[in-house]
Amino acid sequence: MSNNSLRYSKTMVVIHWLTALLVLGAWLTAEGGREIVDNPPLLHFTLGLAVLALIVPRLILRLAGPAPEATGERGWLAIVAKAGHGLLYLLMVGLPITGWYAASRMGVTVSFAGVELPALTAVVPGRPGLIAELHENAGTFILILAGLHTLMAIWHQLVLRDGTLRRMSLR
Ligand code: HEM
Ligand code: HEM
Repeated sequence: MSNNSLRYSKTMVVIHWLTALLVLGAWLTAEGGREIVDNPPLLHFTLGLAVLALIVPRLILRLAGPAPEATGERGWLAIVAKAGHGLLYLLMVGLPITGWYAASRMGVTVSFAGVELPALTAVVPGRPGLIAELHENAGTFILILAGLHTLMAIWHQLVLRDGTLRRMSLR
């Protein structure tokens, strides 16, 4: 039995894959610019806020429970992997909050599956602002990072054949 046969808990696995779908969905439904004031991308809000909702149990489980032993990655690659995962966690929290803030600032009411949420800031007319720009760029960045992360998973699966993907699967 190698270290890599150790798995994430079933709950972590379900949350991981659900989040992957939600992030992709949020990216696909994203819209920018002033026109969203008249036509808010409600699906984008709901999918993005679901990422934020899922990060709460995920972080609790991750911090409270024993995480599986590290993969076979050694040296700088282990550090890169850790930093990459850390950045993904940061984006999963930061993206929805900056998006919510940006919408509020533009005067767009944010709702989660039809339930209206309070505004995070006062309405400012004119350009969407710096936080909105940060949100848009971070939205592209998470997709690139998740893409690299996926490539690494495929590399582990097909080239190293070390069972890393099994750590994030239900059986
Ligand atoms: C098809 C897409 C994806 C594949 C194949 C995949 C695969 C994996 C695998 C195999 C692991 C376990 C790595 C290990 O044991 O060290 C993992 C961990 C992780 N994945 Fe993904 N993933 C995908 C998409 C995503 C997305 C979209 C996100 C977030 C936006 C994400 C965030 C994470 C994080 C944060 C971890 C580390 C978990 C922890 O140790 O706390 N993944 N992924
Ligand atoms: C993982 C979650 C999310 C991702 C990946 C994401 C991604 C993006 C991207 C890529 C854009 C730019 C679209 C374009 O310019 O064509 C965008 C715009 C926007 N998103 Fe998100 N988003 C997420 C969550 C949210 C949430 C939860 C909200 C609000 C509750 C939100 C509100 C907005 C708003 C208001 C804009 C327009 C900003 C502007 O025009 O300057 N986003 N998002």
